[in-house]
Amino acid sequence: MLSKEFITDLKFKKTGEIAKLVQNQHDVGKLIFVLENLGHLPIGFNADFLYDLLQHQHTQVRFHAVKNIAKLNGKSDTKKLVELYQQESETNVRREIVSAIGRQRKITNKTILFSFLKDEDPKIVCQAIRGLLVFEHDKEVEKHLKPLINHQNEMVRTIIYKEYFSKENQTVNVLPHTETYRFLKNVVIHADVLDALKYVPDESVHLTFTSPPYYNARDYSIYQSYQAYLEFLEKVFIETHRITKEGRFLIVNTSPIIIPRVSRSHSSKRYPIPFDLHPYLVKNGWEFIDDIIWLKPEASVKNRIGGFMQHRKPLGYKPNSITEYLMVYRKSTEKLLDWNMRSYDFKTIEASKVEDGYETTNVWKIDPTFDKIHTAVFPVELCRRVIQYYSYKGDLIFDPFAGSGTVGRTAKSIGRLFFLTEKETEYFNYMQSKIKPNIFNENITKFLTLKQFIETIK
Ligand SMILES: C[S@@+](CC[C@H](N)C(=O)[O-])C[C@H]1O[C@@H](n2cnc3c(N)ncnc32)[C@H](O)[C@@H]1O
Repeated sequence: MLSKEFITDLKFKKTGEIAKLVQNQHDVGKLIFVLENLGHLPIGFNADFLYDLLQHQHTQVRFHAVKNIAKLNGKSDTKKLVELYQQESETNVRREIVSAIGRQRKITNKTILFSFLKDEDPKIVCQAIRGLLVFEHDKEVEKHLKPLINHQNEMVRTIIYKEYFSKENQTVNVLPHTETYRFLKNVVIHADVLDALKYVPDESVHLTFTSPPYYNARDYSIYQSYQAYLEFLEKVFIETHRITKEGRFLIVNTSPIIIPRVSRSHSSKRYPIPFDLHPYLVKNGWEFIDDIIWLKPEASVKNRIGGFMQHRKPLGYKPNSITEYLMVYRKSTEKLLDWNMRSYDFKTIEASKVEDGYETTNVWKIDPTFDKIHTAVFPVELCRRVIQYYSYKGDLIFDPFAGSGTVGRTAKSIGRLFFLTEKETEYFNYMQSKIKPNIFNENITKFLTLKQFIETIK
């Protein structure tokens, strides 16, 4: 019976036993099983049969043959591997060949690895880069790798940036990752967000959660054109990027909107805001992480299907929109999330842990909230989830388009700080009327004009 134990046993017996087993094996499945379970190869292992398998017609056999050859490290036959690379068309096998040659860590292989950098497959290029990066401080390697910062593939560019350029661009942070400026803590500014952000230092907020004004959907959002609207949002999110701490999140709530028709002889127009905004965000250093769907009950949304229900004519189908998007982005960094998490002390991590009952899917079923003053408020539950899942206690949460201030109130209620901007006097006053006085809190909420805010910074 062919088993892992049997293969291990045979491997250490007489040299050539495994070769015989492989050569006599005509069942491809079994052959692959042997190759997959060869494990560590003992010193003096006769690997000639593995090179014969490089000509096998089955891709997986060739792939595993190369994988085993790689285990021979410095002793593998580079020439035969290069020959296979030149005739091989399967990506996985080709990548494994490059990996096998890279793992030899031989200076003499540098030229071969340089030639792989010209491969059309970015996965091969990345693998070759990995193989070359083991030659630290090697000027020739640097000369070949640095120009790849302009490579057409983004993964290649990212590796090269991390290796050679990020260290040059590193800014010195004035504040530790978990801390922020006193003058931003629990502050609401009555101003246009772009005016206010001019006074906010780099890397000062931990999370931004916002719902931007909808394009001409409500009276507070009149823009000259859709393009002008997107460009305005781009500016806001460039500034938000600047003031966001390394590797932290931005969550933008939007949905496609509809502009009603001007008359019966025109049609209404639908604008896919989340999809159109997305390229502006990634272009400006926001890495796309997730899309979360906010699902509302059908009875709570505008009825669009009424006409179709009557006529039932194809093309006239207009489903009721019961979803909105929460697009999740992270400020691009080569640092892993683990780095962000490790910035917090044990006590904060324990206190911030998300309790049982959290949402496990990207579809969040939450009833909308209706408000008599502000027509587009966040449900508290939506804010609570975002803030709990994407921030730690004591973090500063920013909402550039504060409206009735739901983000601020929710942040405060679960042990976070907030910083909000809102340009409309009516909503600014409304926020103020909603605040519960708490004179004993050291971070008491401050409602400031832009001028007053600037005064507090000095
Ligand atoms: C969709 S509402 C946000 C509602 C908020 N999420 C809430 O829970 O109440 C967008 C808000 O952005 C505000 N706004 C629009 N343009 C602004 C700007 N340039 N600067 C600051 N606030 C702005 C609007 O007045 C509006 O209150």
